[in-house]
Amino acid sequence: MSRDGPIRLALVGGGPGSFIGGVHRMAALLDGRFAIVAGAFSRDARKSRERGAAWGIDPARAHAGHGPLLTAEAVRRDGIEAVAIATPNASHALIAADALAAGLHVVCDKPMTATLEEALQLASAVRLASTVFALTYTYTGYPMVRAARAQVAAGALGAVRKVVVDYAQGWLATAIEGENRQAAWRTDPAEAGAGGCVGDIGVHAFQLAEYISGLRVESLCADLPRVVPGRQLDDDCNILLRFGGGAPGALIASQIATGERNALRLRVYGERASLEWSHEEPGLLRRHSPDGRSELLYAGGEAAGPDARSAARLPPGHPEGFIEAFATIYRDVADAICGDRRLVGGVLPGIDDGVRSMRFIDAAVRSHERRSWLTLEGS
Ligand SMILES: NC(=O)c1ccc[n+]([C@@H]2O[C@H](COP(=O)([O-])OP(=O)(O)OC[C@H]3O[C@@H](n4cnc5c(N)ncnc54)[C@H](O)[C@@H]3O)[C@@H](O)[C@H]2O)c1
Repeated sequence: MSRDGPIRLALVGGGPGSFIGGVHRMAALLDGRFAIVAGAFSRDARKSRERGAAWGIDPARAHAGHGPLLTAEAVRRDGIEAVAIATPNASHALIAADALAAGLHVVCDKPMTATLEEALQLASAVRLASTVFALTYTYTGYPMVRAARAQVAAGALGAVRKVVVDYAQGWLATAIEGENRQAAWRTDPAEAGAGGCVGDIGVHAFQLAEYISGLRVESLCADLPRVVPGRQLDDDCNILLRFGGGAPGALIASQIATGERNALRLRVYGERASLEWSHEEPGLLRRHSPDGRSELLYAGGEAAGPDARSAARLPPGHPEGFIEAFATIYRDVADAICGDRRLVGGVLPGIDDGVRSMRFIDAAVRSHERRSWLTLEGS
């Protein structure tokens, strides 16, 4: 379905000094499919207007919080059609539910909610809505992640036997939460939810493992230590996985891995070959065969396959990264809004991925507390 002009989008979050809101903005604008026309960039009216002014938003459309935003936009003839949520986790559920109730499309950042209960309630709201609900699991927008997913689905590895995913960061190796706002809310259960590292980056690793392997985690056994003294939430995760069909797996995520930056790496071992993708070389997919051969597939190249080619914007060798991957998610959201709803829950993560991820966090936290294996409900 075609339409005239870009989709009118409001951003909630992304105020001065924030991290991911600005990435949402760049990604939404990259392909010209969205225009950011309004926002609640902060709960503070002055900061929201300040951010709006820097981004060329009419001051009358820069609000303090999502409630005034939705009320004001509902009565405009040129009001918003979609809302993007880039606030700390505990506010996602309410903002998403209110936006859906207002008949808007929703792009929500991860983790979808702060609790599993909120996720299940939001799933009911999404089922009743006729609009699109999508999640920005950033790594799903990388061409070579999509290539890996397509290869596994096409049987290029044979049956998947093992999945290993690790995600190492070092920025929380010391107690910086007193002076760093991103650290402050991520280490506070009232803002982050029950998971610390597991909810912040473990959830990316979990989602990616299921996204690429096509398998679903059935059970897990988690050790979630709080390494830095005084923390109320885990800052390190070590999780054994068991996938449907019996394949084993391991997920390691850490925010106290001194010296690491954003080292996400995934390996999928099949009976005939294995695949390896690393976020530090995102335009590359390694394929290893049992006879000692290894192949390198590059984003944008013919050999990477159609899924990777459609997600790549440049010929091989021209580096693309985080913002382009995020923009590919926005492009898929635009296609879904314009009629291709099959994308949601396919290449584009949707409500089911969100509920799965919240089941993962919930099960990991309970498994750690009980020191035992637990089954993921709904697997
Ligand atoms: N997809 C990814 O790769 C990725 C990366 C980083 C963060 N995230 C997620 O994005 C979200 C935000 O993370 P961040 O690091 O940008 O946080 P941040 O603290 O840098 O920014 C949050 C912004 O939201 C504003 N805010 C807070 N509550 C609000 C409300 N109720 N209404 C309007 N504005 C509000 C704050 O003032 C701030 O400007 C989190 O859920 C996080 O998990 C996702």
